[in-house]
Amino acid sequence: MQPARRRGFVDNALMSERTIPIVDHRYASSVPRVPAQAPAAGGLLTDRLGRSLHDLRISITDRCNFRCRYCMPREIFDGNYEFLRHSDLLSFEEIERLARVFVGLGVRKLRLTGGEPLLRRGVEDLVAMLAAIRSDDGEPIELTMTTNASLLARKAAALKAAGLHRVTVSLDAIDDALFRRINDADFHVSAVLDGIAAAQAAGLNPVKVNMVVQRGVNDHQIEPMVEHFRGSGAVLRFIEFMDVGNTNGWRMDQVLPSAEVVARIAARHALHALQPAAPGETAERWALDDGSLEFGAISSVTQPFCRDCNRARLSMEGKLYLCLFASHGHDVRALLRGDAQQGVAAVDDDALRAALALVWGERDDRYSELRGLAPHGAEERRVEMSYIGG
Ligand code: GTP
Ligand code: 5AD
Ligand code: SF4
Ligand code: SF4
Repeated sequence: MQPARRRGFVDNALMSERTIPIVDHRYASSVPRVPAQAPAAGGLLTDRLGRSLHDLRISITDRCNFRCRYCMPREIFDGNYEFLRHSDLLSFEEIERLARVFVGLGVRKLRLTGGEPLLRRGVEDLVAMLAAIRSDDGEPIELTMTTNASLLARKAAALKAAGLHRVTVSLDAIDDALFRRINDADFHVSAVLDGIAAAQAAGLNPVKVNMVVQRGVNDHQIEPMVEHFRGSGAVLRFIEFMDVGNTNGWRMDQVLPSAEVVARIAARHALHALQPAAPGETAERWALDDGSLEFGAISSVTQPFCRDCNRARLSMEGKLYLCLFASHGHDVRALLRGDAQQGVAAVDDDALRAALALVWGERDDRYSELRGLAPHGAEERRVEMSYIGG
């Protein structure tokens, strides 16, 4: 049993100090059932809403060197916060094994996330192990990473050499003073820009730059971000601020709808919509007519995309979540290692595959579509973004 960990609610306005601490025990989870019959190899696996499994997002650490207020507010993620012990984390071998089994179930894109994934020691070795995985018909699997880029300038070349295909960088402002207030850890914009440049030079392209837009905090940075990244080759993406987790003090009036983002850019530039690049993708794609910039709008609040959601998320301690807003995880680590306390024995790859197929087959999550109808009550403890990786 893990120790109770301190968590709480904060008012997320940058200058506010209001904190209401609460005590929380580990997130709820259960061990997946192992069915007697394995699913037929190569059969199409769909969930209860007919959605197939395509992306596996793997969070490899719960730590981050930033303290963005909407994700890891300093009052909660402070010196007393108990991060997971190394022995609780899935080993690289366990992650590779799971990824391989998931690829056998149809996964074609792997994304490493955190916390900050570049903080996990030896991450290049994990990248190399994942890059060697092939689908049943011998195809390589798309391998990407979401990072805050603070360590990317140092690591980009090694990550590329290990087999990473591309990176997505989080950057919420191009104004240095504002960016430092947002990350609350004194990181400069220049460090992130150096990371982006190193990633581009290493060939981790196209580099995508994700900006979470919060009305009244950084929405005045939309146009400057466009100006900065025009002609850079990076793809800029504007994300509606979401009510993930329990600690970010989300309010609807902090959301700037994507339609307004697009309208603000259209007021300055001629632009046109692009066709979706892949089914189930998160972003609606746009381009400036002069060809200087592609950008995307991720409208998970105002235009939910649950209908096509093909993403599963694995936490660093081996819990599988079928929705970003889930409050219940599936304890896959118990199947990998066995867990005497829970009365579970370790299983082989076939049993693992059968258990995971059953979990996906029973999935009916579509939180963003339901948000307007029945918002989560405060009693439901949802996983934090820093735990599940966005
Ligand atoms: P690409 O393949 O590069 O387009 O990646 P992606 O858009 O799948 O991944 P990325 O990590 O760049 O996602 C961008 C942001 O979209 C995340 O940080 C989340 O804020 C949001 N997002 C991603 N997946 C989901 C999802 O399944 N549901 C919701 N509600 N939001 C998501
Ligand atoms: N709403 C939208 N996006 C978020 N991210 C973190 N918290 C939120 C939120 N509440 C984004 C980060 C990063 C990715 C991992 O998730 O900015 O781009
Ligand atoms: Fe770290 Fe990303 Fe969370 Fe910021 S949003 S604290 S960079 S994990
Ligand atoms: Fe998928 Fe859940 Fe996001 Fe909907 S809210 S798109 S089901 S992760």
